[in-house]
This record gives sequence, structure tokens and C-alpha cells, in this order.
Amino acid sequence: MSREKSVHRRTVLRAAAGTGVLLTLSPGLLLTGCDGGVKAVESETLGLDSDEYDVELNLHAMPDSVPILPGAPSEVWRYRAELLKGPQNTVTENPDSYLGPTIRLRHGQTVKIHIHNELPEDTTVHWHGLHVPSDVDGQPRLPIRPGETMTVGFEVLDRAGLFWYHSHAHGKQGGRVGFQSYAGLAGLLIVEDEEEAGLKLPSGDNELLLVLQDRTFAGNNELVYMGGGMGSMMDRMHGFIGDRVLANGAPPTTRKVATGPYRIRVLNGSNARIYKLAWSDGRPVTVIGADGGLLQEPEDRPYAVLAPAQRLDIWVDLSESQPGDTLELISDRFQAGMMGGMGMMGSNALPLGSRFPLARLEVSKSVEASEPLPAQLGVQRQKILVNSNTRIRRFELSPVMMRGFAINGRRFDGTNVADDEKVRLGDTEIWEFHNNTPMPHPMHIHGLQFNVVGRRGGSSDSLQQGLVDSGWHDTVLVMPRETVQVAMKFERFDGLYIYHCHNMEHEDAGMMRYFQVRG
Ligand code: C2O
Ligand code: CU
Repeated sequence: MSREKSVHRRTVLRAAAGTGVLLTLSPGLLLTGCDGGVKAVESETLGLDSDEYDVELNLHAMPDSVPILPGAPSEVWRYRAELLKGPQNTVTENPDSYLGPTIRLRHGQTVKIHIHNELPEDTTVHWHGLHVPSDVDGQPRLPIRPGETMTVGFEVLDRAGLFWYHSHAHGKQGGRVGFQSYAGLAGLLIVEDEEEAGLKLPSGDNELLLVLQDRTFAGNNELVYMGGGMGSMMDRMHGFIGDRVLANGAPPTTRKVATGPYRIRVLNGSNARIYKLAWSDGRPVTVIGADGGLLQEPEDRPYAVLAPAQRLDIWVDLSESQPGDTLELISDRFQAGMMGGMGMMGSNALPLGSRFPLARLEVSKSVEASEPLPAQLGVQRQKILVNSNTRIRRFELSPVMMRGFAINGRRFDGTNVADDEKVRLGDTEIWEFHNNTPMPHPMHIHGLQFNVVGRRGGSSDSLQQGLVDSGWHDTVLVMPRETVQVAMKFERFDGLYIYHCHNMEHEDAGMMRYFQVRG
């Protein structure tokens, strides 16, 4: 049976029908097969090859079955890890969720990861946001075949921040990022450093990690990816929008909290949904960090926008609250432009731009107030300097009739790089994305963090005041008709990297290109 066909029609991940491939590969069988494989590739570590690594772990991508909703468990694909070497808190499993283990690293550590593909199809693991060599970046050009193991090594060069890892497979038939991430192949990766530790931000029980994803389930809790017929066409055009939201792989829950400050670190791990984060009592959202770590200083916003793949670090003070008080983090209503069309199709219970809760905090005890929020946060990494001589590279995002979207008229073409996609190692450039489409596109560049220089031309809409542009980012939301400039420096690593829209269905349909850093 052609997998292509089932994906493009209606893909249901379940044990019963149509997915024989999922069943024939039981994790246990393949684990045995992998034992020899680990040794076989030991000498071929991609990226950093060193005799001594601070951290070493096995990471398995495998089919599994996990309870998500009440009732029958759901078939998923997920990551599991075993720590072979390094601090005990490096790996935290999420046993009750399909989410991969949370990997906690420190700036300066050297890390070696053996990635075992126990899935019935090619996969890769991309360390989203990390500054790593091209060969360990998990790009589609280096797929891990079913049953194979790939070993990657790198040094943690980034400053403290919330990153994540996910599949980046893309074959001849198109991208599999949307499907594989949707099936569960994603996890958090936290980098810690001295500067951040010195700020004494809320930690331990006062640090909440929140992964936002939306999913659609069939009658027996099977995950459903893409609707059938017309719905499927819409899904590929707009990006997949699920009919319910999951927080950390489960329906949103109530968290018992104490009075005092909390740090809430949020990843939008959804395929295509944009969130408008706000507090139920209307208090401002205090943003302290973005994709690439802490901002220079806290920023109060009426709400904060989180596009696919982006992260936000939010600080909230509950020291004025009383036991029994509750506060909800919500995604507030917004105008979704053309993407709102899905609601009109009547096919979705939770259209883009609707209002729904993400997490409920219930104050259950009083404690002595602790550390106030510092006025200065991440000040050590200086903004990239640009001036009127800085080269501006333009990228036009445009629709391709019935086939998704293009970047400068081009779609994904393997490792082929056009002349205007070659940059020089050591250069600072401004990339200018001009969105000539009626949809927002979260544009992501691999291997670096950039600064947003400015925006112009977008219609003023119901998201404008929540776009956090200060600090460091690897993904920037470009609104319809808008032009956004970002500044970046190509440092340390030459070779091939990719840039793409992180609406996973757009990416999979070809809104992605390689670029080359030439040494
Ligand atoms: Cu989060 Cu190219 O990816
Ligand atoms: Cu897009």
C-alpha cells in the first residue's frame, strides 16, 4: 500500500487498519537489531568528534501507544532516551505523554547522541535553534534509514534558552515533518548557563514547561492527520489545524501553585496553529525571553503571539494571590484572515483564532515572597550591528497555484542552492522576507539566532501588539503583505543549512530551501 496515498487522503494512526507498517515493527525487535549498529557507527560520529564527551545518550525514535484522552490509548511515534553519561538531570522522561524526554544541557558541554531509527520510514532529528555544524543539524539530506543508527556530536555553543528537537524528514514524495511531528516526534531541549543562573529566576516547582499542540482524534482516540477530500486540500493550503488543544501532550489541566513568582516557558509545537497568549484576568503578559534566550529586559504586553516553532519565556507573579484564587493562561480570540476560512468550512471545532484555555493555575498555598524580577536580564550577548552598508538579501514569499508557496519563486529542490542563496562565513547580513500572500508565515533559519530589525507594511490587525521582536530568534512571523527584516551573522560553521516556513504543511509542500555558508 502506498503510504503517500494514505497520508494525502486521511491518515489515521491506529493499530487496527491501514497501518500494517506500524505494527510489524515492534520496538523490542528493533532494539535488538540496533545493538550492533551503535558500535558500527561509533567511529563515524558526525560533527564534533572527540574522545571525551560530557554527555552521551541514546535517543530512540519509535512507535508506541500512549493514553492521551480518557479511554483507549492512542498509537503514536515518539522519542525515548537513555542517559549513558552526564549529569542525572540531563534527561527527564515524560512517561505519560508522547512528548520526547526533556533534555537539559549546559553551555560549553560536549554532547554525543546516538539516534536510533526504529520507525518504518526515514527520519532525522533536528536541534531546532541550536548553533551546530551542518552535518548534525538533522537535515533531510542525511536521513536515518529504518533500523539504522546515526551518531552526532556537538558542543553546546548557545546561551541559555528553550530549544526543541523534532523530525525533519523530507523524501522524494515530499516532506514528512508535519506527519512525524504530529505523530509525536518532538521534545524540549533546555540550555542553561552562568548568566541565567545568576539571575535567580523561578526554578524547580516554580518553572513550568508548556508545549502547545493541537490534535484531532477519531472515535477510538486515534490521532487523525489531515482531513479527507476537500478538507485535506484545505489542510495543506492553510496548514493542519486540530480540533482540540493539548498542553504537554494532554488536555489542559489545573496546576496547583503557591503564591510567588513563576516562570512559564512555552513552546508552540503545533503544525500550523498560532496562539495569542493572554491572562484570563486581563493582566499584562510579562515576557522575559524568546527563542534564543532571555531578553535584555522584561516587556509587558497585553498579549503575546506565539507562532509555530517559537518559544516564549513568561514571568508571572502570584504573590498577591490568595489560596483558592485561579488564573488561566488562554489563547485569545484573533482575526485569522484567510486562515479563518476553515471555520467557515464548518469542519473544525476549534478554528484558528478562537479563544480557549491553555493552563489553569490554582493557588493552593501561601509562601513567603521570593526573588523579585530583575530589571536587567540577558545583557551579555550584544545585538548584531547593522548599518546602511549591511547587505540586504530579499526573499519574496508567494503562492504557487494549487501547490502551496514558494520563496523567490522556488520550491524545495534538495541540496540545490541558487547563487542568491550563497553567503560568506563571517558576514553579517539582513534577510528581508516580503510576504506576498494572504497568510502568515513563520520563517525559520537553521543554525543561528537572529535579531528582528523591523517590520513594515502589514495590515494592523489583532496580533500586532503581541509580536515580540526584541531579543534573539530563530523563527519570525511574517504577517500577510508584511515585510520583515532580520539581521544575522554566519559564524563558525560553513556548509549547507536550510531556511523555511515552519508551518509544517507549507514546509512539507516545498516552502523550504537550502542555503550555503561558504568558508
Ligand atoms: Cu524546527 Cu527546519 O525546523
Ligand atoms: Cu508558510
